[in-house]
Amino acid sequence: MNKIVLKGGSVVSTRGVKKADVLIAGEKIVAVGKHLSADAQVVDISGKLIFPGFIDAHTHFDLEVSDTVTADDFESGSQSAVAGGVTTVVDFATQNKGETLTDALNNWHMKAFGKSSCDYAFHMAISDWREDIKNELPAMFEQGVTSFKVYMIYDAMELNDREIYELMKELKRYGGIVGCHCENSGIIGKLREEALENGDTAPKYHPLTRPDFTEAEAVNRFLSIAEAADAPCIVVHLSTRGGYEEVLRARDKGVLVYAETCPQYLLLDDRVYEESFDVASKYICSPPLRKPEDKKALWDALKTNNADTVSTDHCSFTLEQKRAGEDDFTKIPNGMPGVETRAILMYTYGVKKHRISLQQMCAYLSENPARLYGMYPKKGVIKASSDADLVVFDPKGHDMITAERCHSKCGYTPFEGVKTVGSVRQVYLRGNLVYNEGEIVLKNKGKYVMRDHYDL
Ligand code: URP
Ligand code: ZN
Ligand code: ZN
Repeated sequence: MNKIVLKGGSVVSTRGVKKADVLIAGEKIVAVGKHLSADAQVVDISGKLIFPGFIDAHTHFDLEVSDTVTADDFESGSQSAVAGGVTTVVDFATQNKGETLTDALNNWHMKAFGKSSCDYAFHMAISDWREDIKNELPAMFEQGVTSFKVYMIYDAMELNDREIYELMKELKRYGGIVGCHCENSGIIGKLREEALENGDTAPKYHPLTRPDFTEAEAVNRFLSIAEAADAPCIVVHLSTRGGYEEVLRARDKGVLVYAETCPQYLLLDDRVYEESFDVASKYICSPPLRKPEDKKALWDALKTNNADTVSTDHCSFTLEQKRAGEDDFTKIPNGMPGVETRAILMYTYGVKKHRISLQQMCAYLSENPARLYGMYPKKGVIKASSDADLVVFDPKGHDMITAERCHSKCGYTPFEGVKTVGSVRQVYLRGNLVYNEGEIVLKNKGKYVMRDHYDL
């Protein structure tokens, strides 16, 4: 069996940073400690940090939205992931109305199989809640799908409060958990109609028709449903101070709620929507980018461990695709790329700016998503018998983010020209070197990850 020892680095965990060697045999870590080099190939990583492979628990690869398909499928999306130190993505298998969950899951397996350069798992996004769908839930758990997503918005996917309540009650029986896209569809739908009637068609009307209180209201409602169902839940891509305050209030009442946010909500704000169409449209996502005070609240949430994961909501569209909404902002496909830049941004603007510690970075990008999505300790930690998913990270590296060097097919990055500190040097996926000094050196080796129940 192939044995490698990564020697001279410092291992990052949620408990601290410790100088230690990591011995890998085949796909697994076999030991973490000192003097482990016997009969193994020695790789000197002196001065480097070693993180457990990062997990991005919110990606949309090969997703059809607004009559178009994301620029990144599992091939390019997963290569972009690996280049950013991501060894596992949890993508959203998405049920179209009329489909069964089995149809949706098979569909996503076909999209990913043999194409992914990182490991992958699936949440199931339920768009059509019916009696036969309820009966399919046990089959989802048997196939390793233990987390679900619902949308309170988007005509093609929205569930109403009653349906979300029923789903939550049902999932509770199996130990499942549901994440929710929280936006008030009634208010937003009407505001969008009014904007178009007034001739307000530019991208800047996207955030104006999705005011912050429409997220806060929806978070409040979702958490009230969770309270009624007495079920655990996740608020995904939390973007506002108001939404965050609702999370804190619900927790005070005893609701078990986890919160996810994303780099775009921590680092960007709605001033970008004032730019020309070709600039502003790249930032159209839902929920939209918010105000500086919202960013501050979200950083506070991370600093105080009141948020649980930082994912990306990677949902990429080319500028050409975005141009479908040149005369009508409601037709711009929603989403932006991010899977490749998350770690480096969190290190530069989180750790180096003393907003979060290295241990917290490890929690938000590796251990917490592994626990919350039932993959721990196979993933999310560097210890004996875990998968040898490892990121060798140079804390002294300096770089600049450019689309040209990113692996996404969307052709741009929302962080173009941003100077970063630290860099991902090597990435190991189950013991295989898949990324080395800027190059993807091994492709398509990703495997499906069967998941257990949440445990965070
Ligand atoms: O704009 C976004 N976020 N698109 C992806 C789908 C979603 O709502 O998560
Ligand atoms: Zn969403
Ligand atoms: Zn999403």
